[in-house]
Amino acid sequence: MISKYITTPIYYLNDIPHLGHAYTTLAADMIARFWRLEGRPVKFVTGTDEHGQKIAQAAEKAGLSPQEHVDKMARRFEEITVSMGAQPDDFIRTTQARHIKAATAIWQKLVDQEEIYLGHYAGWYAVRDEAYYDEKELINGVAPTGAPVEWVEEPCYFFRLSKWQEPLLRFYKENPDFIGPSSRRNEVIRFVSGGLHDLSVSRSTFSWGVPVPGNSAHVMYVWIEALTNYITALGYPDIKSADFQTFWPESLHIVGKDILRFHAVYWPAFLMAAQLPPPKRVYAHGWWTNEGQKISKSLGNVIDPLKLIETYGLDPLRYFLLREVPFGQDGDFSPRALKNRLNSDLANDLGNLVQRVLAFIQSKGEAKVPQPGTFTEVDQKLLDWADGLWASLNQHIESQSLNRYLEHLWEGISLGNQYMDHQQPWTLRKSELPEDQQRLHTVLYTLIEVIRQIALFLQPVMPTSAGKILDQLAVPLDQRTFAHQDNRLVPQTPLPVPQGIFPRFQEE
Ligand code: MSP
Repeated sequence: MISKYITTPIYYLNDIPHLGHAYTTLAADMIARFWRLEGRPVKFVTGTDEHGQKIAQAAEKAGLSPQEHVDKMARRFEEITVSMGAQPDDFIRTTQARHIKAATAIWQKLVDQEEIYLGHYAGWYAVRDEAYYDEKELINGVAPTGAPVEWVEEPCYFFRLSKWQEPLLRFYKENPDFIGPSSRRNEVIRFVSGGLHDLSVSRSTFSWGVPVPGNSAHVMYVWIEALTNYITALGYPDIKSADFQTFWPESLHIVGKDILRFHAVYWPAFLMAAQLPPPKRVYAHGWWTNEGQKISKSLGNVIDPLKLIETYGLDPLRYFLLREVPFGQDGDFSPRALKNRLNSDLANDLGNLVQRVLAFIQSKGEAKVPQPGTFTEVDQKLLDWADGLWASLNQHIESQSLNRYLEHLWEGISLGNQYMDHQQPWTLRKSELPEDQQRLHTVLYTLIEVIRQIALFLQPVMPTSAGKILDQLAVPLDQRTFAHQDNRLVPQTPLPVPQGIFPRFQEE
């Protein structure tokens, strides 16, 4: 199985973590967990982006030195990563020595390749976006993102981005899966086809950054430095390192739509210029609004994921965020939508299926996996659906259709509930005929076997709750990877007393 490298953007430390950051990390965590359960070598990296003018300004406002500020803020991001249940293999901070070394090395390589030259920049800069904008991109005097811009004139180094227009267009053509979702791909191709200017890649009016090798009057433009984090984490500049060899370029960068251009245009251009292969895929997800409003500090409507975890529990929140909105599209957050989703999908559909099947098995004191007889066509149909899960869900992971992944599982939950309604185990149990008793066991076995497989594949999204379901089915801890999909439940295995897993929330 091929190894997989997955990353989140590294988060700016000018602000405390909010739902947007938690969302990107969560999506990457789901995919990383899926791949690990497949048994692949996986590396999942997240971290913090600690240099640049925006951070320097935030530190000054807080009355701290930039280093004190980033040390304090980085902890908050490490904490939220843990609180969201994410399990990265590495947490990179761009003020670490390994990163400064990598950024310096890639810069030097670009200089050696004559891809960087000294010039003079005069143009618009938005500190909030840490981005340069063309005059023609501005809308009513501000950046298209709404960020205020300032006129900047300074000597600076340029990267020969213009030279990479044709190679980039060729690269997009030859690698149709490089950018997802495909609607975003067209957007990027349009942008590059419109022509690329050389990119200013150093700043000299402030000093909080990685010094340009050989000219410490300049610090590197934060984006050229920040993007390099993805290879710092693999040991760059040591491209012979085991990690670099195993994981580059098998990479999937999960990013928000606002930073796609940096990842899909600048990053592959820097890499090609440094004679390294571009990443495999960049996927841009959408933005959350809060009750229809853009989330912003000035509106005071920032959503704190920790509060949501406290109120609703971690697994339900993970489920909601990944299920509610098609990954790649914008979505709206509201407590009403959250409660509706949790009540209908978790308490009603999944909770009901698990609870009524397990409670039914136990109700006559037979706390064991039933011994099935011959499976009929209807049983087999349901079992076949479950046996096809790995193949179907893998496709959704490959295309990052994370909501479709969950929809697919819920189709099975609904099939399971319908099957139970039709097979009526309660009627079978009342019958005195031995063939009905046999049938009862076959029906219950079919149901718990399907529940086992659903729980197996729910683990990447709701690790704790799925684990509890597997506990209630007495599935041993060492038989919970996808390689164990075919290990059917063993008849007569004793089952523990079932307990409800998904609470119901008061509707508003
Ligand atoms: N530091 C850069 C990334 C450098 S990667 C080499 C950066 N940081 S950020 O902290 O501003 O944003 C990080 C991520 O949070 C982005 O992917 C962004 O899209 C995401 N989100 C911020 N607000 C969001 C929402 N309201 N909704 C969803 N995601 C949002 O950009």
